[in-house]
Amino acid sequence: MTIAPAAAFQAETREDSYRNAAIEIAAVLDGEPNLIARMATVCAMLAERFSHYFWTGFYLVDPTKPDELVIGPYQGSLGCLRIAFGRGVCGAAAARRKTIIVADVHAFEGHIACDSRSESEIVVPVLDKDGRLIAVFDVDAAVLAAFDEVDARGLETILRQTFAVY
Ligand code: SME
Repeated sequence: MTIAPAAAFQAETREDSYRNAAIEIAAVLDGEPNLIARMATVCAMLAERFSHYFWTGFYLVDPTKPDELVIGPYQGSLGCLRIAFGRGVCGAAAARRKTIIVADVHAFEGHIACDSRSESEIVVPVLDKDGRLIAVFDVDAAVLAAFDEVDARGLETILRQTFAVY
């Protein structure tokens, strides 16, 4: 008698993972309008899901100082409290309103080392429904070159669906 292989187990690809995370985040946040609750939930759900996420969090545009970012909800070790536009990877992404992927943070001029274990980083701008910058989403990894275009597209989709509602 031959034994059929167990139902083919297919590991979830990173694309699948972002797609499933987007569905789960939308379900959890359904009906919740509060911005901080939405940000905290995105952090917790992504940090839990992806093992390459070492520090995961938001820096919000400070309404009282519109060229400065201030720390928002995050998961991980102590983050710097404030980052001026144009400074570090977060400030650069805020100023350019573009996603920045940094394969080696030590090679990025002006990188701000909140935790010396960080080796690579991705920062994605968060825009409201009118295209205004409200925050940046920052993820650090403790290994080099942890992030690629799959992370960029996955995060951009999740952040758009979650925050382009304000
Ligand atoms: N590395 C960031 C600063 C924030 S921490 O990584 C939490 C930067 O260069 O903007």
